[in-house]
Amino acid sequence: MNQDQLKQAVGQAAADYIQPHLEEDSIIGVGTGSTANCFIDALAKIKHLFDGAVASSEATAQRLKDHGIPVYDLNSVGSLEFYIDGADEINDHLQAIKGGGAALTREKIVAACSKEFVCIADDSKLVPILGTFPLPVEVIPMARSYVARELVALGGDPVYRQGVTTDNGNVILDVHNLNIQSATALEERINAIVGVVTNGLFACRPADVFLMGTQEGVKTLKAKD
Ligand code: 5RP
Repeated sequence: MNQDQLKQAVGQAAADYIQPHLEEDSIIGVGTGSTANCFIDALAKIKHLFDGAVASSEATAQRLKDHGIPVYDLNSVGSLEFYIDGADEINDHLQAIKGGGAALTREKIVAACSKEFVCIADDSKLVPILGTFPLPVEVIPMARSYVARELVALGGDPVYRQGVTTDNGNVILDVHNLNIQSATALEERINAIVGVVTNGLFACRPADVFLMGTQEGVKTLKAKD
């Protein structure tokens, strides 16, 4: 299987995973990216089994609507049973780096509101230590230079993602060469910098289950202690 087929396999596996739990008033949290898109396409086939979805980006909202799946404002719903999303990197504690698609803040908000975060990705995303993928940080535009200096002081090499404005009207700094030994401590440390909206470490709220696409089929991983 090529990478696109692995993404389709995990998208379908996520739909199969949640299907037995769906009720007519269920609302699903949906992530952003090419793997999340495969999940949306699989979800569309069972749209008669649930009420609708909360989207983590404008792009995801549009894809859901194109499939005829109602999209709700997060403020109009309670907590969600499931959040399904991809990742740029994930370790065996199911801590992840996300934000390659610049949707990290809304992704983190929807994940926070969800009882179970199901991460879907192919096995190339599983890493022993997070940080080879540059860590995205969403920043208020006027704070860009200040935040960049603070990130350098933490040992990183921030690079301004040219030409990208997030759905929230902000900019992204991609931080290279971070030494991520304690992902939770670093997530909290970066989020404490004034001007940072959030960073792409999903460590304080890691995934609960990882559906990993491999050549031998989709494997279900839970966090190692
Ligand atoms: C978007 C994300 C995505 O989940 C992440 O970038 C993975 O994307 P893809 O499934 O296209 O590899 O965090 O902000």
